[in-house]
Amino acid sequence: MVSRLFGFLLLVVLAVLACSQLVSADGRFLENGLLPAVPVPPDNPQTDAKVRLGRQLYFEKRISLDNTIACATCHDPEHGWADPRPVSEGVGGAKGGRNSPTVLNSAYLGVQFWDGREPDLEHQALGPLQNPVEMKMTMPMVLERLKSLAGYVDQFKEVFGTEPNDQGVAKAIAAFERTVISSNSPYDRYLQGDHSAMSASAVRGMNLFRGKAHCMACHSGPNFTDSRFHNLGVGYKDGKFADEGRVAISKRRQDTGAFKTPTLRSIDLTAPYMHDGSETTLEGVIDLYAKGGIKNPYLDRLVTPLHLSKQEKADLVAFMKALTGAPLDIKPPELPQ
Ligand code: HEC
Ligand code: HEC
Repeated sequence: MVSRLFGFLLLVVLAVLACSQLVSADGRFLENGLLPAVPVPPDNPQTDAKVRLGRQLYFEKRISLDNTIACATCHDPEHGWADPRPVSEGVGGAKGGRNSPTVLNSAYLGVQFWDGREPDLEHQALGPLQNPVEMKMTMPMVLERLKSLAGYVDQFKEVFGTEPNDQGVAKAIAAFERTVISSNSPYDRYLQGDHSAMSASAVRGMNLFRGKAHCMACHSGPNFTDSRFHNLGVGYKDGKFADEGRVAISKRRQDTGAFKTPTLRSIDLTAPYMHDGSETTLEGVIDLYAKGGIKNPYLDRLVTPLHLSKQEKADLVAFMKALTGAPLDIKPPELPQ
């Protein structure tokens, strides 16, 4: 009797331990794993017509001041839904100073932008339209242009039952972005039991990622980000940061030079890297971590010299290359007249 009770208690303890490894006390995923279903907010359900409208708006240059820039200009499907230039250029060649993050899996992010200033895709979407170094419009101008195109007027009526308006633009673009997903990578297939999906080097890299190199301390969960902000010293020179990052939003001094942990899914497609595009290759990124980041007063305590051999560095790169998702069949659509 006692031993059965003991056995039962042991099972409970083991079950709790197993769960606590996957999810922390505040409900965040810790281990890397398979992606869950894409989260969809209750007030913006996915429909085919809405996604179709959002796709058109995403590729639409006529909603930028001089008709030259679309979301897809800086988040280009041909470049992993990111920008091959270190820093994006908006209308008239204006530069904002930051590298375009990929839109792949932005649907899973707990916070948007390198500094986390917006909470979700709906709030994010209207930012670039009105940003003077991006599409340089005002929302009334955007809506005026959409209302002048019968094809858009009809679709807004069908999808939202209204004329083109701010909310509709944001919701449609966000719904489309929720279809821009990186999944079913060699790593995912490996996790599902296909042990031939990753090379021996990538498997060693995975173990380093989770272990000795403790990358998973920050690139955690199925989307390889903790949705938190860390300082690696990127952009620190001559005693100051070119971009102070998260501190501008949080106003906490210790967030100086801290940026959001980016996803690593499809990372092989989205060079250059870091918030300022300062690293051109994955090998360069690994070298930066191997030496313990760039020393500065706010360096994250999780960033320490790693003492990696040449082979270990190559293994980490091989693992990251195994995170490239299956190709998406999303082409620039025909745009309404
Ligand atoms: C001129 C280039 C440019 C254009 C045009 C542009 N973006 Fe961006 N986008 C960026 C840059 C740069 C950032 C990062 C800015 C920051 O963190 O401060 C960004 C950030 C984002 C993010 C946050 C992703 C993350 O990982 O945090 C999303 C989502 C996004 N853009 C979607 C869009 C959509 C939708 C449009 C069109 C309505 C658009 N962008 C237009 C350059 C651009
Ligand atoms: C302390 C948290 C932390 C740890 C540990 C960490 N990272 Fe990062 N990683 C970040 C943050 C934050 C950034 C963005 C920094 C910036 O732009 O200033 C980043 C950026 C990257 C990028 C560039 C992504 C992009 O889209 O530009 C890669 C690749 C990367 N990390 C891989 C790794 C690997 C591999 C390891 C382990 C060797 C690792 N990281 C360890 C937090 C971390």
